[in-house]
Amino acid sequence: MEENLENILECYDGKSIELIPILQEVQHKFGYLPEPEMREVAKFTGLPESRVYGVATFYEQFKLTPQGRNKVTVCRGTACHVRGARRILEEFEEKLNIKEGETSEDLEYTLGTAACIGCCALAPCVMINDTVEAKLTPKKVAEYFTKETADEI
Ligand code: FES
Repeated sequence: MEENLENILECYDGKSIELIPILQEVQHKFGYLPEPEMREVAKFTGLPESRVYGVATFYEQFKLTPQGRNKVTVCRGTACHVRGARRILEEFEEKLNIKEGETSEDLEYTLGTAACIGCCALAPCVMINDTVEAKLTPKKVAEYFTKETADEI
């Protein structure tokens, strides 16, 4: 068992009720839930692997694949949709050369969507890491990728 996982598990008793906090720590340590570690967590908690996998896929917070250093979340809520969210998403897909739900090969970006990010009056909106970018256009998205940093659009 990898040392990182051992360090996490030694803080728990191996009870099934500890599954979610253990998975949260594993994800925090690895950035996602690697399959070998999920198998070890199943053994440790005495749960079937299918149960661990079921929990990992049920909750949005858990990721089964490596995530990019930068997370782009395009809002697809109603307000953003009517103001062109689909074109914004398409522009990100084209510029990043990945589809929604994918991570770039260099692990620089993960592209996702959300039902609403809570800034409807500023639609269409995108979250880039912890920052909301408002009133976007495909042109502004294209400009984002001509800049050296992801500080602003
Ligand atoms: S619908 Fe996009 S922020 Fe609410």
